[in-house]
Amino acid sequence: MQALELEKLPRHLAIIMDGNGRWAQERMLSRILGHKKGVETVRTIVEESSLLGIQYLTLFAFSSENWLRPKSEVRSLMALLKKYIAMETPRMMRNNIRFNVIGNPDELPDDITKALQTAMAKTSGNSGMLLTLALSYGSRQEILRAVANLAVDMVAGRVSKEDLTDDLFSGYLYTGGLPEPDFLIRTSGEMRISNFLLWQLAYTELYFTQVNWPDFDKGHFYDALRNFQARERRYGLTSDQLRKGE
Ligand code: IPE
Ligand code: IPE
Ligand code: MG
Repeated sequence: MQALELEKLPRHLAIIMDGNGRWAQERMLSRILGHKKGVETVRTIVEESSLLGIQYLTLFAFSSENWLRPKSEVRSLMALLKKYIAMETPRMMRNNIRFNVIGNPDELPDDITKALQTAMAKTSGNSGMLLTLALSYGSRQEILRAVANLAVDMVAGRVSKEDLTDDLFSGYLYTGGLPEPDFLIRTSGEMRISNFLLWQLAYTELYFTQVNWPDFDKGHFYDALRNFQARERRYGLTSDQLRKGE
């Protein structure tokens, strides 16, 4: 097995954790048991990423559109999330992980918002990996919110048309301050983005695997990272230009 090059890891790794429901259904189990098993995978991948020295890990945990799922599934997911935060905060402290959330907090139940804020405050002094959970997150909604806030600043004269650059606009997104993802993994065989980080993924390397999220283990994770390491990121240039460092 080819070894991982530690100096060539993605600085920012984003993951669409998909396939919990199908994992359970294939085993004649309830979908929520799939989500529970999925939480174990989250634990493994967070720990591995932090050990490897990945600086930013962003996990798509619940989309704006996921609110439309059956009420009982949404309720169970929220309960699971609350339990996860309570259980994982001490582990984050041990691993020097800083916790962060992106998405629309207004749509989340109050007790969840409070638990998230507590976890963020508690881990805010940590200096290791930044773990971001995308919760009640939709990228189009994020972009519209950014445009609305930008319009307010323009009308107030705080920003002029000439100031408007990629960087300035990025600062209005929930991900303001984070570098763009270098690598995106989506599990479960679906080859779509599902309203995740549309602006931020402009030059991200994409990786799709058939493995369902609850089955995604350290071996699959390393396969994905090795795949990333074999790629040439050209950003519109030619291979020759990159080799010559022009
Ligand atoms: C991903 O698994 C977790 C969430 C979206 C909350 P799914 O629940 O989407 O699993 P599938 O796609 O139905 O198998
Ligand atoms: C995307 O998965 C959202 C999360 C993983 C949280 P979905 O299962 O909701 O996406 P679609 O519906 O298959 O596109
Ligand atoms: Mg799904």
